[in-house]
Amino acid sequence: MLRIAVIWKHAGRDASTSYNEVHAPSVLPTNLDASKFKGIVDKGTITEEWARPPPGQTTELKLNERPPLESVIAAQDFEDIAERTVSKKTWAFYSSADTGCLTRDRNKDFFGRIWFRPRLVRDVSSVDTRTKILGHDAGMPLFVSPAAMAKFIHPEGEKDIARGCVPTRIPQGVSTNAAFPIDEIMAAVPRDAKHPFFFQLYVNKDRKKSEALLKHVQSLGVDTVFVTVDGPVPGKREADERVKADEGISSPMSGAKGSNDKKGGGLGRVMGSYIAPDFTWREFDWLRKHWRGKIVVKGVQCWQDAKICAVAGLDGVLLSNHGGRNLDTSPPAIMTLLECQANCPEIFEKLEVFVDGGIRRGHDILKALCLGATAVGMGRPFLYAVNYGQEGVEHFIDILKTELATAMALVGITDLSQCHAGLVSTLDVDHLVSRGETHPYATGRRKGNEGNVKARL
Ligand code: FNR
Repeated sequence: MLRIAVIWKHAGRDASTSYNEVHAPSVLPTNLDASKFKGIVDKGTITEEWARPPPGQTTELKLNERPPLESVIAAQDFEDIAERTVSKKTWAFYSSADTGCLTRDRNKDFFGRIWFRPRLVRDVSSVDTRTKILGHDAGMPLFVSPAAMAKFIHPEGEKDIARGCVPTRIPQGVSTNAAFPIDEIMAAVPRDAKHPFFFQLYVNKDRKKSEALLKHVQSLGVDTVFVTVDGPVPGKREADERVKADEGISSPMSGAKGSNDKKGGGLGRVMGSYIAPDFTWREFDWLRKHWRGKIVVKGVQCWQDAKICAVAGLDGVLLSNHGGRNLDTSPPAIMTLLECQANCPEIFEKLEVFVDGGIRRGHDILKALCLGATAVGMGRPFLYAVNYGQEGVEHFIDILKTELATAMALVGITDLSQCHAGLVSTLDVDHLVSRGETHPYATGRRKGNEGNVKARL
């Protein structure tokens, strides 16, 4: 039956390629009688129609052409397509990371070093990926990590990300540097959907500007702010510096503008120049005064800072290195999660722990949850998905949800409350988990630098 279908598909066309893909050259002479040999094709008689691939077969794409959305089946596909189809500057801005890009790449690689330990022979006929994130119902333990300027890749940018998140109820983090004001992003989805939005704050050098922004966002009904702390100064994103910036672009909420200077055209650097380098833990009192809702600290990279957030009674901590964009060789985000488990496991009961950086699969989400995370964020993948607008975002979330549900069934759980650390093995990376306050053996001090020990701790 199958063979007939293949013959039908190629009727009137050249089937050599499809045939040769699955048959060894010896199949014909050993299975067909020599009397069936009809002769050799006269190549001069080959028409254009005969040489064309059969309908429905994947064809070579032209440069800058996006394949049909239904042929996209993984986060990596969206990324590859973005690389081929967006402008040089957009690709440089989105994909770049600090200096050698080691942290960006290791974020992803380290998920591959954690292995599942499936428990089988259980009834997994019905799997539920729903959960709660910071008090909001969510279709799965995932939110959009705030990322600047989604409009570069699609005219509806953050608005289409919002629309695409509604059907599965994926909370959206909106950046201070978003391409649209948060009012417009929230207005893009039906009000009665009560869709969850989180606002990401970069504290401004001019605190009055931050105060006004927080007041405005709060008046829109947003109940959670993510305060990003991992970029008091900008990283050096060389790919972004190398491509000239369009000087006409600007971000409406921060007022930041694109420009070029002697260092290059790095949008991250230039557009982040308003961010306060002097914001400290002490100012969380100031923040509480101007924000009555929940507070999550984004960009924590060691257990000590995560513990400060828990002791201070904050609502959450996002273990993140900004997708490797700020400090190269800062630890892969999943390693920071392990570090928290090793040094201060009590914090997981005090606040919600989130992770972002390098998450590309439903499997990665499940691993983070087994290791204690409430949910994970994704940055670049949502930007690459919105290349296809709202539909792309919906399709991307469906892919992840299916991957997550399948992975859950295959490790033997049907509900996220059944996640536990026994379902994963971290043996491959355990020796890399930092423990304690200081370096385990490097106690020698540089000559002339004996003082100031307190500052070092
Ligand atoms: C970001 N990120 C970010 N974070 C933030 O707090 N405010 C921001 O404005 C931005 N802007 C931004 C722009 C772009 C182009 C990227 C790629 C990232 C960081 C983001 O929230 C998140 O931490 C990382 O993207 C997570 O890593 P992955 O998922 O991209 O690997």
